[in-house]
Amino acid sequence: MAVTTQRAHTKEELDTRKRSSASHRFEKALQRKIVGQREAVHALVELHQVFCAGLCSPGRPVGNLLFLGPTGSGKTRIVEAAAEILFGDSRAIIKVDCAEFQHSHEIAKIVGSPPGYLGHRETHPLITQEELAKSHRESLKLSFLLFDEIEKASDSLWQLLLGMLDKATLTLGDNRRVDLSQTVIFLTSNLGGGEISELMQGGMGFVQPKDKPAAALDQKVERTAVEAARRKFSPEFMNRLDNVVVFHPLKREELDEILDMELAQVQKRILDSTAAAFLFQATGEAREFLLEEGTDPRYGARHLKRAIERHVVSPFAKLLATGQVRSGDVLVIDRCPGENRLTFYKENERCSYSTHMIFAAPIANPLSNANLQVA
Ligand SMILES: Nc1ncnc2c1ncn2[C@@H]1O[C@H](COP(=O)(O)OP(=O)(O)O)[C@@H](O)[C@H]1O
Ligand SMILES: [Mg+2]
Repeated sequence: MAVTTQRAHTKEELDTRKRSSASHRFEKALQRKIVGQREAVHALVELHQVFCAGLCSPGRPVGNLLFLGPTGSGKTRIVEAAAEILFGDSRAIIKVDCAEFQHSHEIAKIVGSPPGYLGHRETHPLITQEELAKSHRESLKLSFLLFDEIEKASDSLWQLLLGMLDKATLTLGDNRRVDLSQTVIFLTSNLGGGEISELMQGGMGFVQPKDKPAAALDQKVERTAVEAARRKFSPEFMNRLDNVVVFHPLKREELDEILDMELAQVQKRILDSTAAAFLFQATGEAREFLLEEGTDPRYGARHLKRAIERHVVSPFAKLLATGQVRSGDVLVIDRCPGENRLTFYKENERCSYSTHMIFAAPIANPLSNANLQVA
């Protein structure tokens, strides 16, 4: 006698858009450090979720990601920011600057020389299992390997790279094998960057052309970058990538936001330092000056940090060293009219502050008082 069981067919729809709280926290933290570049943030968050669920393809790297787009748009920064969040240190990445390995013999710096070769004992390979394991945490056994500016890689570096992307292993000079199956391989390239800045208002920068809707322009930027990559890189290479993400040129309001973040970092450095904890504010004019000095269509935000060091941090150091600024002071930074520098004023009213107070936001013209000499 056949027994038939009848199951009640109740369907429960599952929500695949819902993410774990760890993944959600990672996304929020990344968005606090990276301005714009939503596709790139999304790609990293998805990868993190797949890794945490243990569903990565076996025998392959956790992910092979190619980042394209103009210089100074955040390609390297996003990898550092993710390392900061996940491993607690932005330097917990093995970084290979492909421009430094243009000659085939320099590959020894990456894999070490075979035994018996001159200098075998002195050359420490850059990529080893121990180096990769340095970023591992109890809760997250993951590593980042970054190949920056791959369009500059030599043929022998390409061969090495193709093997890593495909098999997730690297054989060192002394035949030891490095397992890359717990590693994300990031590749960055500025290919197509020149053409992209030409697309943006005839090469004149960050402002969006008025006659083109934003979405159409974004698509064009993406197509330009991907076509440039397809022209330069072999299909063999492109086929081994899990994801190609195009970074967009930074818009004016995004640069403003990055300036805020960088100034807030300076404020944090001051409050953490033992010299003197003071607060500062920058006027709109001063911020305008720093953006002019530190950003441009060809280099994105690449020189912003340097401009801040030169025009803000270095004068601060002089003011501290000469005793013109003390703990508890409030400084206002303004643009010096007609000159290529900033001026610094001291608000006469001293303030008490908490270390949470970040004061680097723009303000209206300073009402204040003591003009400080930094020259
Ligand atoms: N989208 C961004 N969000 C936050 N900071 C950025 C962004 N893009 C550029 N920067 C700033 O500019 C600097 C240079 O960016 P980087 O990532 O090195 O450029 P590239 O795209 O050439 O790799 C970074 O260190 C960071 O200070
Ligand atoms: Mg870079």
